[in-house]
Amino acid sequence: MASNITWHPNLSHEERSALRKQRGVTVWLTGLSASGKSTIACALEQSLLARGLNSYRLDGDNVRFGLNKDLGFSEHDRNENIRRISEVAKLFNDSCCIALTSFISPYRQDRRLARELHEKDNLPFVEVYVDVPVEVAEKRDPKGLYKKAREGIIKEFTGISAPYEEPENAEIHLKNYEGTTVEESAAQIIAYLEQKGFI
Ligand code: PPS
Repeated sequence: MASNITWHPNLSHEERSALRKQRGVTVWLTGLSASGKSTIACALEQSLLARGLNSYRLDGDNVRFGLNKDLGFSEHDRNENIRRISEVAKLFNDSCCIALTSFISPYRQDRRLARELHEKDNLPFVEVYVDVPVEVAEKRDPKGLYKKAREGIIKEFTGISAPYEEPENAEIHLKNYEGTTVEESAAQIIAYLEQKGFI
């Protein structure tokens, strides 16, 4: 961190959310490539926006076109990817937006740090495990990435040649291979947010 910098106090989240009439929350979707994270996050975003709630989706592939275009898929770069996204999600959340993040985020430690970053400022953080066995994800393979990983063309591919550490205490566990529709998954998350009073 640089020296000679001074933190300028902002409005508190409570003050801001009272004025905005909406609280912030971060919904953190984690799961293998092709598990359905982005599809569920899109449906969720639409549904929240349709209710008049401010919501914005941060997506793994998309963020790597801009903010994180200097990062690859080594463990170190994934740690940094998730660290930056955690900070960005926290800013959206603090601005009273519902931040939806869809990143593989394969390491428990990174997800724990994301949670802690939010919780130390009393900003709600909801982890959603989009659970699909690797065999199912590999069969879907919409971008042909699993095939390339098996052929050794893509190195360090999550689930094949790089780890995915399953969440142990996610608030929501979606088994996204048992015939559940995207709309049902989005509705399950919305029901949770309502039940907790976040929306
Ligand atoms: S991570 O692990 O959280 O830093 O990954 P993320 O930022 O979510 O980016 C995942 C998307 O990048 C594509 N891709 C790869 N994924 C995993 N491993 C390797 N080696 C890799 N190379 C490229 C892939 O399209 C992922 O998108 P999703 O939507 O998850 O399929």
